[in-house]
Amino acid sequence: MKKRLLSGVKPTGRPHIGNYFGAMKQFVDLQDDYESMIFIANYHAITTMQNGSDLSASTLDLALDYLAIGIDPSKTILFKQSDVPEVTELAWIFNCITTMPYLMRAHAFKDSEAKNKEINVGLFDYPVLMAADILIQNAHIVPAGEDQRQHIEYARDIAEKFNRIFGETFILPEAKILDTVKTIVGLDGQKMSKNRNNTIPLFANSDTIKKAVFSITTDSLPVADPKPHYETDTVYAMHTLFTTGDELANITEGYKHGGLSYKESKDTLVKNIDAFIAPLREKRAELEKDMDYVHNVLTEGGKKARASAQATMEQVRGKVGV
Ligand code: TRP
Repeated sequence: MKKRLLSGVKPTGRPHIGNYFGAMKQFVDLQDDYESMIFIANYHAITTMQNGSDLSASTLDLALDYLAIGIDPSKTILFKQSDVPEVTELAWIFNCITTMPYLMRAHAFKDSEAKNKEINVGLFDYPVLMAADILIQNAHIVPAGEDQRQHIEYARDIAEKFNRIFGETFILPEAKILDTVKTIVGLDGQKMSKNRNNTIPLFANSDTIKKAVFSITTDSLPVADPKPHYETDTVYAMHTLFTTGDELANITEGYKHGGLSYKESKDTLVKNIDAFIAPLREKRAELEKDMDYVHNVLTEGGKKARASAQATMEQVRGKVGV
């Protein structure tokens, strides 16, 4: 029997190529090997997104994104978190066995506090709801980006604690974090992240790609000079994701021995990023013409996900005594 995989993304902000290579691509690559469930974390989004029409629009946007990158509803149960309201019930039960000092050690909480942000109770409780998402579906494996590692450890801890108090109930989930040798660098050479405004959107049009790539700062060595530190050059780092074979070999030569202008290097990169994104963009535009199909996928996925969650909750309620 295949193991169960579950993961989700919040529908806040448009996905960028860092999200894709860091996490979302895995969802597609793994859907043959696992019994896959992928969802849109719209309850989690309310911690920061408090406009109903924005939230429902971006929920559908993310559904389109998932389908466009190749999530196949005949292999993966694709659903909205809110179609499984039982997760909030389970989160409440978990709240009652989770201490505040433990949640205060979470990186996300500490970061927000360090920045003096206003922290709502939902944000503080974020890891507990996430544990409920994972554990209610008996997921063995949770593919995610590096930034989610601690959250998945929290889910394991909470599962262990519940099992200890109420008896063996939950599977201890494991994180599957891509050991990307290279974190995906953004336009400023730092980790690509929507907070840093250094992203290339996953469905960017040709113009946006060009503007983004040409905004990358490079050194001012003459064209003919070798570029000894090319491996730390942001443009070169992006080539390693999008440029392959002889073309990459030539670019590498040009950096090592000189003779390649940054303009040329950037032109090649723009061409290759565009070649990668174009089919995704087209697929998404196609899907957008048939929103009934998209709604239907979510409805069907929601029913399946809910049925499986209800089965878990029956057990949980019995053990807790409610
Ligand atoms: N925290 C995840 C993110 O920000 C979204 C998420 C919510 C999630 N629940 C989850 C991911 C359960 C994996 C499993 O992207």
